[in-house]
Amino acid sequence: MAVKGKIRKISGPVVTAENVSGLEMHELVMVGQDELIGEVVRVEGDAATIQVYEDTVGLRPGEKVEGSGMPLAVELGPGLLMGIFDGVQRPLEVIQSLTGDFIKRGIKTPALPRDKDWHFVPLLKKGDVVSGGEIMGTVQETSIFQHRCLVPPNIKGKVEFIAKEGDYKIEETVCRVSTGKGTVELKLYHRWPVREPRPYVERLEPSEPLITGQRIIDTFFPVAKGGAVAIPGGFGTGKTITSHQLAAWSDAEVIVYIGCGERGNEMTEVLLTFPEWKDPKSGRPLMERTVLIANTSNMPVSAREASVYTGITIAEYFRDMGYNVAIMADSTSRWAEALREISGRLEEMPAEEGYPSYLSSRLGEFYERAGRVKTLNGSVGSVTLIGAVSPPGGDFSEPVTVHTKRFVRCFWALDSSLASMRHYPAINWLTSYSEYTDYVESWWNKLTSNKWRFQTLKAMEILKREDELKEVIRLVGSEALPEHEKLVLETARLLREGFLQQNAYDPIDTYSSPEKQFKLLSVILSFHEMASNAISKGVPASRIVSMPMLADLAKLRMSVENERINEMDKFQEILSTEIKRIMEAKS
Ligand SMILES: Nc1ncnc2c1ncn2[C@@H]1O[C@H](COP(=O)(O)OP(=O)(O)O)[C@@H](O)[C@H]1O
Ligand SMILES: [Mg+2]
Repeated sequence: MAVKGKIRKISGPVVTAENVSGLEMHELVMVGQDELIGEVVRVEGDAATIQVYEDTVGLRPGEKVEGSGMPLAVELGPGLLMGIFDGVQRPLEVIQSLTGDFIKRGIKTPALPRDKDWHFVPLLKKGDVVSGGEIMGTVQETSIFQHRCLVPPNIKGKVEFIAKEGDYKIEETVCRVSTGKGTVELKLYHRWPVREPRPYVERLEPSEPLITGQRIIDTFFPVAKGGAVAIPGGFGTGKTITSHQLAAWSDAEVIVYIGCGERGNEMTEVLLTFPEWKDPKSGRPLMERTVLIANTSNMPVSAREASVYTGITIAEYFRDMGYNVAIMADSTSRWAEALREISGRLEEMPAEEGYPSYLSSRLGEFYERAGRVKTLNGSVGSVTLIGAVSPPGGDFSEPVTVHTKRFVRCFWALDSSLASMRHYPAINWLTSYSEYTDYVESWWNKLTSNKWRFQTLKAMEILKREDELKEVIRLVGSEALPEHEKLVLETARLLREGFLQQNAYDPIDTYSSPEKQFKLLSVILSFHEMASNAISKGVPASRIVSMPMLADLAKLRMSVENERINEMDKFQEILSTEIKRIMEAKS
């Protein structure tokens, strides 16, 4: 029997209930006459504290509180893709069409559509012995995505019945398993508690890069499939654009995008623009392989707090099918603020800057759910987690950035001075880092006849040298520099303008294939080598730096398409001839 009690006190999204002994921590509850949904966050004797995921205005003490006997969970099955949900997986479009613009309270709309037919193709046979995570059959969920319908993780037994190929609604039984203790009916979907990581067989090394097509990321600060990354940056430095670029271009099969709007209209923008985007590989709408979770500013903070768990659970589910999933949370600072607000309502002792003392462990629990794993059905899947962080004033020493840093292994530091110079992406190459480089090196080496690591190190050395020279230039001016150092400045400029900068809005530049990234860097570095040789032979650096071709070199990123990178070989040849000509003219 479900526990039934009464509301004692209401404080914003937090409600205290009495006479509810038996309610469990994290249990889903219905609060008040309207049956608002909430989750138990504290149990004390026969009282419980509940965070409510809907607007609590109008709720009164004395109204009922009813337990559900179940934890807060999400529905996992066909119908997730193309979906736009709130933080507790209520479908936004459906709710909006039922209630008009504002989400009315207490509306019970199931997360996944109940009336839709899915064409199921069974993979199991009667008599098969199955266990959790195995694939019962498939459903072509969208034109570009095959859904692998999974036996829920905790089920094991013998198949008594498996549905024939055909159209089924989500609540129809497609498989019946006798477990020894009874029989369970399996549907095209199952539920899973959001705060509990889904099980897998083992963690694997993150040895494959997530190719994003963004040069500074893939070449200098790569993230591996299954990795965890932070994108910290002040207002307007490019967190959202970078997250969008990754959603559109990274080579993950499924995208889960959690938007926690910074500005009032930012989420509306995401909701309007995302459905228009095309998947670059298929030309189909990107939404056909995307799940959107939106927190708008008029939604309760508690739903925002829950949204990251909802998102990561959905991501793990697609991982368990054997897919690579990328999940973006923009911005996790908004989530941390929700945590802070709820903690305040719970009258907990605040720690740094008012955040609760468990901020760090909550961030840890979230980022630790990233990973590349062997799934329960033996396939390999991954969840790559990309969290934007928006520190107030761009100050990376504030608690959310500092604690996030402990749990991510890759850090793309956005820099407001680069952004103000319109150097985009404004990822600072001196303060960013990636600990995945060693893991993905052999992947890149295979593609580049073992030249990748050497080349990236060489380029980074030039960029670091430029930074050191800045101080010297400030003191004595660049004219006083030795000729070789003048060349370093020029090559560094070419690296910055011709490689690191990448315009998200330019049709060619927006995505660079790994091959193009490597070749582009090769051309710039081979210029450096040839020029350096010429300077050693007495050619003045000014003769090199004033070569008109260098302007074209800085624009190769926009003029050469991914499919035509051989044009860069020709360019390099002409450049080499030109430098030889200068050398000969000198002697
Ligand atoms: N890679 C990029 N290419 C072109 N413009 C960019 C790029 N990154 C950022 N910008 C510019 O910076 C602006 C702010 O970026 P945005 O992602 O909204 O910042 P944030 O989310 O950090 O507040 C964008 O509107 C865009 O004009
Ligand atoms: Mg933003």
